[in-house]
Amino acid sequence: MSFRTTTAIDYVEDVAPGSGALPPRAWYASSDAKSLSLNGTWRFRLSPTAGAEDDSFAEPGYDAGAWAEVAVPGHWVLQGHGSPIYTNHLYPFPVDPPRVPTENPTGDHVRVFDLPDDWPSDGGAVLRFDGVESCARVWLNGTELGEFKGSRLPHEFAVGQLLKPAGNVLAVRVHQWSAGSYLEDQDQWWLPGIFRDVTLLHRPTGSVRDFFVHASYDHVTGEGTLRVDSDVEGRVTVPALDIDVATGESMTVAVEPWSAETPRLYDGRLVTEGESVPLRIGFRTVVLEDGLIKVNGKAILFKGVNRHEWHPEKGRALDLETMREDVLLMKRHNLNAVRTSHYPPHPAFLDLCDEYGLWVIDECDLETHGFVEQSWRDNPVDDERWTPALLDRAARMVERDKNHPSVVFWSLGNEAGTGRGLTAMAEWIHGRDSSRLVHYEGDWNCRDTDVYSRMYAFHDEVEKIGRKLDGGTRKRRELPFIQCEYGHAMGNGPGGLADYQKLFESYDRLQGGFIWEWIDHGIKHPELGYAYGGDFGEELHDGNFVCDGLIFPDRTPSPGLVEYKKVIEPVGIEGDGADGTVRVTNKYDFADLSALAFEWSYQVDGETVEAGALSVPALAPGESADVKLPEPPADARGGSETQWTVRALLASDTAWGPKDHEVAWGQFPVSARPLPAVAATDRPTASEELIYLGPASFDARTGTLKTIGGVDVSALRLDVWRAPTDNDDGAEWQTDTRYGMLWRKYGLHRMQHRLDAVELGDDALTVRTRVAPAAWEVGLSTVYRWTSDGTKLRLTVSVAPEGDWTVPLPRLGIRFALAQADRVKWFGGGPGEAYPDTKSASMLGRWHSTVDELQTPYVRPQENGARADVRWMEIGGLRIEGDPEFWFTARRWTTEQLDAARHRTDLTPGDTVWVNLDHGQHGIGSQSCGPGPLPQYFLRAEPAEFSFVLSEVN
Ligand code: GAL
Repeated sequence: MSFRTTTAIDYVEDVAPGSGALPPRAWYASSDAKSLSLNGTWRFRLSPTAGAEDDSFAEPGYDAGAWAEVAVPGHWVLQGHGSPIYTNHLYPFPVDPPRVPTENPTGDHVRVFDLPDDWPSDGGAVLRFDGVESCARVWLNGTELGEFKGSRLPHEFAVGQLLKPAGNVLAVRVHQWSAGSYLEDQDQWWLPGIFRDVTLLHRPTGSVRDFFVHASYDHVTGEGTLRVDSDVEGRVTVPALDIDVATGESMTVAVEPWSAETPRLYDGRLVTEGESVPLRIGFRTVVLEDGLIKVNGKAILFKGVNRHEWHPEKGRALDLETMREDVLLMKRHNLNAVRTSHYPPHPAFLDLCDEYGLWVIDECDLETHGFVEQSWRDNPVDDERWTPALLDRAARMVERDKNHPSVVFWSLGNEAGTGRGLTAMAEWIHGRDSSRLVHYEGDWNCRDTDVYSRMYAFHDEVEKIGRKLDGGTRKRRELPFIQCEYGHAMGNGPGGLADYQKLFESYDRLQGGFIWEWIDHGIKHPELGYAYGGDFGEELHDGNFVCDGLIFPDRTPSPGLVEYKKVIEPVGIEGDGADGTVRVTNKYDFADLSALAFEWSYQVDGETVEAGALSVPALAPGESADVKLPEPPADARGGSETQWTVRALLASDTAWGPKDHEVAWGQFPVSARPLPAVAATDRPTASEELIYLGPASFDARTGTLKTIGGVDVSALRLDVWRAPTDNDDGAEWQTDTRYGMLWRKYGLHRMQHRLDAVELGDDALTVRTRVAPAAWEVGLSTVYRWTSDGTKLRLTVSVAPEGDWTVPLPRLGIRFALAQADRVKWFGGGPGEAYPDTKSASMLGRWHSTVDELQTPYVRPQENGARADVRWMEIGGLRIEGDPEFWFTARRWTTEQLDAARHRTDLTPGDTVWVNLDHGQHGIGSQSCGPGPLPQYFLRAEPAEFSFVLSEVN
């Protein structure tokens, strides 16, 4: 006998997008039609399989009173039912499209609601789901409405005839896995649930259904043309422009255009017989012209980021305030663009982009990356049975979001290979909306796209593309280039951003890029701090690859965001200290500099002695001016290091930042630092146990430093090891050598220190050693030479590599332990972390911090917190001057403990503070997904000599 028990769940594995839903349309909030949010607490029952329970729960009268409760919007796996799963591109189930596993967590949701007393009895009603992962079947009052897939897309059902004044029963069955899951293989947590709003909308007779605002701008005439096409006829008014026209009619008037820099929106209204809808109109024209992306006649430069929706407790169920926080953080860090990787965001996010000004690449909810493992065989995007689902997704995105001026590109999806389905999507989109361009990265021949887009191309290749020497199809050669992903912000880094930006600003064809990515998707966890892949016992996972954002899970900016802000600052400030001028360049595409106020200040040894306003002309985009600085303050004597700092600040409060918010800055030296000098006048003397030199004592047998004045210093020795960063380790598929791995192989984390000699000379104590790893012939001949003038102590370290060094060093310097330390002061780069290729934002000045505040809490602990270009520092009662400048880190744990930690909570602070003073650090790069450090940031094993002058702070 052969039979199937699962007929009722066939839709789950059906490649079709669904049935019963209304055609897609624009998302808008009516001024007068009633709506009822169905967000809140719902009854919830979890079943292990799609067909475990029948559908009687959808019947009115069914008693779900004993069920659990979940919050909607929300993901049930973040509310104590089951667990999240993280994979990058591997499907967490067997690849056998469109079949999914029998184990298919299925959440039945029930919500009973009454209509408000003033709910009108005429007209219809629509039930809208803004996002459900991954497949839902819906009933209202026992009547099935339909089922749908397309997790991050809206679906609406006509329900007017089914509504009752009270006791309406809305039942939704949600399956974690469905045929749709094959189209949603994005690199993120798999998080089932009703994770966006559920809303009941009254639809009065004669109300608007769908409308399309066409608002273009002619940069030659300065006029905008408005036409609003609407399914239901009505009138369109824009009071500020004296516009009052019928739908479908065009009107051309002088306007201020919309751009990400000048987001001028005009309030308007679409009024039909049954409804009035507020409009926010931005006039702008996007074209591909002369091989460039132009908006309002000008080529633009994307300074963007990829944004996934993320909240450490709520997953992808974001509230409006969190979305606004994202936009404000972006604007305050000089970003001008967002790619909504890899799906259309909550619609309210796009309202914020319109309002505050961000260029948007709106990406479709489509990724089939896992098929790469079978050389893209059976890829749904090249199988016409799936094409209706692809077209459905494209239409749901375009129709929902078409009225946002911020959206300048539609993106077909991400990492889905190539195929006829994508071409069908592109053709449909081009036909439906000729006012925007089409993006897709996965086809380097650009068959369907209006831009050549790549991810993680190395600097040299980007330069080649900039020079148009990259070849490719004829079509591609004529297209502009963007990096839709670059600068992989996983852990410490990304390095090399300034080098990319320089290229973007040098070649017209390069129109910028989008950092991968905005936020670490860490999940708040009571024992681990933030959880990442594998922390929920997933059988297949990709670890902390899910934590690769410019902000931490709690939205604290990481040093990567601070660096990016500096690298993309919209005003160039370069000076010449000698002749006292500063060259200011307006790097905006549209705005002049009138919104900014400039300020100069003059520092002597890092301390500001005078400051004042600097008058800078309101330069037009692209213009530069040389501005004379005032005379340097009279008492800024010789014998000190002096410099100018010029800053560009917001001249007044704006929508996104307060007056005085810093937008850009530059520093340039006037006189160089006098190096510390210590006359070697003291002579070392020895007792049985100790050697004395100036303020210091040493172990007589080993020559190891023990005290400086009253300060105990222990374990001082050469150090080359740092806890490898995610970018040091690199991803296995990257082509650059993965030095993090090789460092470990060659034992740089277990160097042995052989003592060769302790020599007492007339004016110096010299300790000769060889520092080398077991098993290898390579080593570092290391000599510590101590001298003193009786008060200060000078240590000169000379390092000579021996053997055949084939790897750079992670770091080169000394480390030691202080029994006690808390506050740290320094004159050098700050206030934050910096490494050789991440130090654009490191500002030279006087800084202070506590040891704890020096740490950058990467979700997976790793090397962090170095401060660059340090002239001197004070810590734990010691003053340390560098000759030359140095880097330092200070922590309450050892590098070995940092290296061993997997989560923040693995690090337990002790009283001892471990200080590293480094002569060099190896670059960071972006090899966790991208290039390693560029050669100029390598710390090669080469002969080196460096000194520190140590004294007790009085
Ligand atoms: C890209 C992909 C992203 C993310 C990134 C690495 O290939 O589009 O979704 O996986 O790599 O973090």
